[in-house]
Amino acid sequence: MTRMIIVRRVADLRAHVSGWRGRGESVGLVPTMGALHDGHLSLVRRAKDDNVRAVATIFVNPTQFGPNEDLSAYPRDEAGDAAKLESVGCDLLFAPDVSEMYPAGFATSVSVAGITDHLDGIARPGHFGGVATIVAKLLLQALPDRAYFGEKDYQQLQVIKRLARDLDMPVEICGVPTVREADGLALSSRNRYLSAAERQIAGLLPRALAEAAQLLADGRAAAPLLTDIEGRLIAAGFGSVDYIALCDGMSLEPLAAARPGSRIFAAARIGRTRLIDNWPVL
Ligand code: PAJ
Repeated sequence: MTRMIIVRRVADLRAHVSGWRGRGESVGLVPTMGALHDGHLSLVRRAKDDNVRAVATIFVNPTQFGPNEDLSAYPRDEAGDAAKLESVGCDLLFAPDVSEMYPAGFATSVSVAGITDHLDGIARPGHFGGVATIVAKLLLQALPDRAYFGEKDYQQLQVIKRLARDLDMPVEICGVPTVREADGLALSSRNRYLSAAERQIAGLLPRALAEAAQLLADGRAAAPLLTDIEGRLIAAGFGSVDYIALCDGMSLEPLAAARPGSRIFAAARIGRTRLIDNWPVL
């Protein structure tokens, strides 16, 4: 196994990627915030399957965290992450400091309208502006052939597809299916905050979404069904439900009943942990 290169400067990232592409080697980019698990690694494997080279980035992006969110507590383990990336054949890790990504005087932000008017766009004000800005930067810094994002963060994936299209970025945005635990819970860096009791309860979220998706696909009206599921999640031990909604999978607009391309989306809290998930309906 060849050793993975680690770089912290944009210029070094550019030099490696443009060198590979200049030799005709395709490059797949996998942006992450670290604390890597098998969900992240499935993106890297996909990048390596589709391209000659896979590049991962680790950057805990301060601009996508709200004032009361977990930026300072966000789990960090660069050495462990680097070992995992190397084990799946990642060629290069870009792990910049905050000052490399947001140098003094930084004044530009990217915002994507429409898709961000719903769900986490409402529940986490400013979040998608931070995501769109950092992902636009990473795509322009690396200039890969393809970039990989998980369906776990389905609204984020749609925001990134829109921004790449709207800004004429010469990169293919690829969605990758959600990797789940045996009980269906989507892998997430934040799952490590769950106590054993909370972890048991968390498994109910994907099961409730899958069950609702089936009933919606059978033609049930969304509103009463989703209210019922919210009540069940609270009764089972979730502290609160930020949203549970049936939406169009591309525009994210809420729907009253299922139609082709619709998905069910939820964000719910257990203790101090916020979980999000989504499930295809039709
Ligand atoms: P992060 O939460 O670290 O996730 C990095 C990538 O891994 C995202 O594309 C996310 O959708 C994907 N991912 C997370 N859990 C997954 C799972 N269980 N199965 C499949 N894919 C999964 O998302 C971010 O970081 C940031 O917002 C980022 C895009 C890096 C911008 O800062």
